[in-house]
Amino acid sequence: MKRETTQIGPAQIAAQMDYCMKVHAMNAGMDHTPLAMVDTYGCQQNEADSERLRGYLSEMGYGFTDDEHEADLVLVNTCAIREHAEQRVLGNVGALTHTKRANPNQIVCLCGCMAQEEHVAKKVKESYRQVDLLFGPHALWRFPELLWRFRATGKRVFERTEEPGSIAEGIPVVRQDGVKAWVSIMYGCNNFCTYCIVPYVRGRERSRKPEDILAEIRGLAEEGYKDITLLGQNVNSYGKDLDEPMDFADLLARAAQIPGEFLLRFMTSHPKDASQKLFDTMAAWPEKIAPCFHLPFQAGSDRVLKAMNRVYDRAGYLDKVRRLRAAVPDAVITSDVIVGFPGETPEEFEETMTLIEEVRFDALFTFIYSPRVGTPAASLPDPMSREEKLKEFQRLVERQDQISEEKHAAYIGRTVRCLVDGKDEKGLTARTPGNRLVRLTGGESLIGRFVPIHITGANKWSLFGEQA
Ligand code: SAH
Ligand code: SF4
Ligand code: F3S
Repeated sequence: MKRETTQIGPAQIAAQMDYCMKVHAMNAGMDHTPLAMVDTYGCQQNEADSERLRGYLSEMGYGFTDDEHEADLVLVNTCAIREHAEQRVLGNVGALTHTKRANPNQIVCLCGCMAQEEHVAKKVKESYRQVDLLFGPHALWRFPELLWRFRATGKRVFERTEEPGSIAEGIPVVRQDGVKAWVSIMYGCNNFCTYCIVPYVRGRERSRKPEDILAEIRGLAEEGYKDITLLGQNVNSYGKDLDEPMDFADLLARAAQIPGEFLLRFMTSHPKDASQKLFDTMAAWPEKIAPCFHLPFQAGSDRVLKAMNRVYDRAGYLDKVRRLRAAVPDAVITSDVIVGFPGETPEEFEETMTLIEEVRFDALFTFIYSPRVGTPAASLPDPMSREEKLKEFQRLVERQDQISEEKHAAYIGRTVRCLVDGKDEKGLTARTPGNRLVRLTGGESLIGRFVPIHITGANKWSLFGEQA
């Protein structure tokens, strides 16, 4: 495949940094340090994008807040994956009419995957007058210029370009966490699963150069990050578009050789591209590559998988799981599944139920099918009622909860080396190498350290333990 990606070079990012300085100068006239609130929806890819948007905002002189009432600028980074996600965003953007009434100078920006959908952009333009600036993922690297344009003219800016997509290196980053970090290794998706909006809003699959990725990981390791997740919609097809092709397993092996005490994770893997070489690479670097694998199966029936354009069948999926477990026996395996794909029969749903019995996932992310404008599945006949789908969904969740609880119970009595990654109102939190949540008591000085934890209890969501 020939690379149709545009590389955004240092000169273009430098020009954006000049716009940051211009906005900074405008902000200097204010009677207080301006505050920005970045509200992020959706997947880790969006979290990673928000860290770059914060990087730019910081260069413009903004501080940060979680309170929309005190924010001078609200930036909503949206997700379009399901109807529910879109409704939440629109509800929250709707509520900003009130904060803006109290503070007429408040600037409201909407970006991310919803902004790239034509019908959403139109609706926002017409019915959400409080939104001053809208831009899709392709224009993220030009955020300073777009914000400056709005500030300079006072006219609403709507920027939705249709393009295969670009790669921008060198955008400043303000990370949200001091222990865990995201590293995007590629953008976009070429798979066109028939239910999914991502390829339409994120553009074609494009890989960052290995040297840029490895330099970023090296920098993170030097800064003391302990848990580094490599991100892409389908990391297993990494590198196919590079001038000098390199596959994901090779990239991971090179990342694993970077010195430092840290664990590498990655997501998401498409079963069609999850290779024996990748499983063997995980087995070869157990001290660096976390034994966990998120491998969405989506449906248990071959007919439904075909209608979803997933390009593997049930037997092929189960074979990948078997080979992964043979190479990495303690691998924690998680997955995504959709209930109620158009035309899925009750018998076909039973095949999803039997698949989860066969695999016994450690955790499962379950979704009810949501039609997305412009995707092929949205025009398929969908005779099953919402109530029936909900019943199936509940049965699936209940059964998986039991399996997760049983899997968690098996940890009791073991001592596991975990990374203490933070705290919440219930105490310290830690993660097993397989990314299961562990709750423990102890001082904050443990945060950011790998410690042996004796597991004393478990439920379906988490493990409980104490420092061994
Ligand atoms: N690239 C990843 C998934 C990204 S979206 C992959 O291919 O695995 C995360 C999950 O959302 C998907 O795995 C799927 O289970 C779910 N999903 C995507 N589109 C959906 C839709 N239209 N309705 C319901 N669930 C959907
Ligand atoms: Fe969507 Fe399929 Fe691409 Fe995942 S692989 S982002 S489900 S189109
Ligand atoms: Fe949502 Fe876009 Fe991610 S649609 S799931 S934020 S790629």
